[in-house]
Amino acid sequence: MSTYTEDTRKVTTRRLTEMKSRGEKISMLTSYDYTMAKIVDGAGMDVILVGDSASNVMAGNITTLPMTLDQMIYHAQGVVKGAKRALVVVDMPFGTYQGNSKEALSNAIRVMKETGADCLKLEGGEEIKESIERILTAGIPVMGHLGLTPQSINKFGTYAVRAKEEAEAEKLKSDAKLLEEIGCCAVVLEKIPAKLAKEVTEMLTIPTIGIGAGAGCDGQVLVVHDMLGMNNGFSPRFLRRYADLFTVMTDAIHQYVEDVKAQDFPNETEQY
Ligand code: KIV
Repeated sequence: MSTYTEDTRKVTTRRLTEMKSRGEKISMLTSYDYTMAKIVDGAGMDVILVGDSASNVMAGNITTLPMTLDQMIYHAQGVVKGAKRALVVVDMPFGTYQGNSKEALSNAIRVMKETGADCLKLEGGEEIKESIERILTAGIPVMGHLGLTPQSINKFGTYAVRAKEEAEAEKLKSDAKLLEEIGCCAVVLEKIPAKLAKEVTEMLTIPTIGIGAGAGCDGQVLVVHDMLGMNNGFSPRFLRRYADLFTVMTDAIHQYVEDVKAQDFPNETEQY
């Protein structure tokens, strides 16, 4: 089987399930702006996630909690303009869908109307069932997110692997089944044991997309800045670095500083 698809048709949520059925793995990466999305999309990505990890990598916050709906909309608008083929999924930020399902629906509608995105992602299972169901009634596709859910970091108190214990693993399995039953199109599994992720993947007909959840998932997702090596202070076990852009960018910028100081830039051909 070819590992790079020649299929230039826009990816839909339905296509993700078809990919699972025929055993084709789903590739997913984050992007937060037009330029990055254009590169990621052009390289053949199936799904682009406008993650609320923008809070960490774009805004410099420690957690994802400060992200607002307006900020997510701003990031998503740029990404949608840059992505021609990939399915664009937008994270609903903390505080915009938990608790009140009517507010969840109006926030979800705002994101879809103002960005042109294809799908939304919400963190949690049973606790947010009503919000997911209400959003789905408007015809908005929803991707679930279980395991390590960063918006609940204050409850967990740690970014360590989740669901290692039987009770939490059972809850995760029943949440995954629930998300499928109520109509989610896929579910992200973050930082859980590979054996559990494989079990969940085999149990569901909708695709699972893993991050730190092993090779048994139907797809994989990473934060683009991490896999490109732009963020050299973050190296969890699950992260594979495909480039060292931190060094490439630092060297290039250092060279520019040197050239300006040495009056080597601009030269005769670089001026009017
Ligand atoms: O916000 C994000 O980037 C995410 C991925 C880590 C799955 O939710």
